[in-house]
Amino acid sequence: MSLPDGVERREFEGDEALATRGEPVYGEPVVDGWRRWEPHRSKLGATLEAGLDTGLAGGDGVLYLGAANGTTVSHVADFAGPTYAVEFAPRPVRDLLDVAEVRPNLFPLLKDARKPETYAHVVESGLDAIVQDVATRGQADVALANREFLRGDGRFVGAIKARSEDVTREPAAVFEDVLERLREGYEVLETARLEPYHDDHLAVVATPK
Ligand SMILES: C[S@@+](CC[C@H](N)C(=O)[O-])C[C@H]1O[C@@H](n2cnc3c(N)ncnc32)[C@H](O)[C@@H]1O
Repeated sequence: MSLPDGVERREFEGDEALATRGEPVYGEPVVDGWRRWEPHRSKLGATLEAGLDTGLAGGDGVLYLGAANGTTVSHVADFAGPTYAVEFAPRPVRDLLDVAEVRPNLFPLLKDARKPETYAHVVESGLDAIVQDVATRGQADVALANREFLRGDGRFVGAIKARSEDVTREPAAVFEDVLERLREGYEVLETARLEPYHDDHLAVVATPK
């Protein structure tokens, strides 16, 4: 598995786990300045654990969609360059502001990821990566709407939650439909289910086409 520079496997009380260097955010253990990145708490952490080649690299410019209170995007900002964190629910954004206070490269945006025109004046284009975890209906549409921010060979790294699209259908069928829609604007490079960390979630790595 290739990890981005700035993400390492470190030992925590005899356990090997992913880690980034930074201030702790969610009560995670810290050893020698390295924060344990809990895959149970983070779809991107689980995606790295699943061994997907995300193409993410240290210093990348990242647009993170569905930042919530900053659990995962804090790890991203620890290894990435400018990291724009979009979240439309005001409450988690309050916590996200605290997370960003000690991370000068993290920019929280209280915005709706379905309306990229509302943050296009703030977010640079030609970014290296979009990381998406919006858990809402229309996850492929969100990915397509934000594709304009990516450089031509950039990476989309997303977690698709089946139940957010349709609670009644088989997750595998839901994933097929989401991937089909995603392929209207992206070439899908790799996918993997995120069990045992997250049930009925599919990790997707894609690049614009
Ligand atoms: C599963 S949570 C994200 C957890 C977070 N990625 C983490 O690992 O720390 C999904 C988040 O997406 C947000 N969300 C859903 N639809 C959104 C939209 N259209 N625009 C912005 N945020 C959205 C929700 O408010 C929620 O906070």
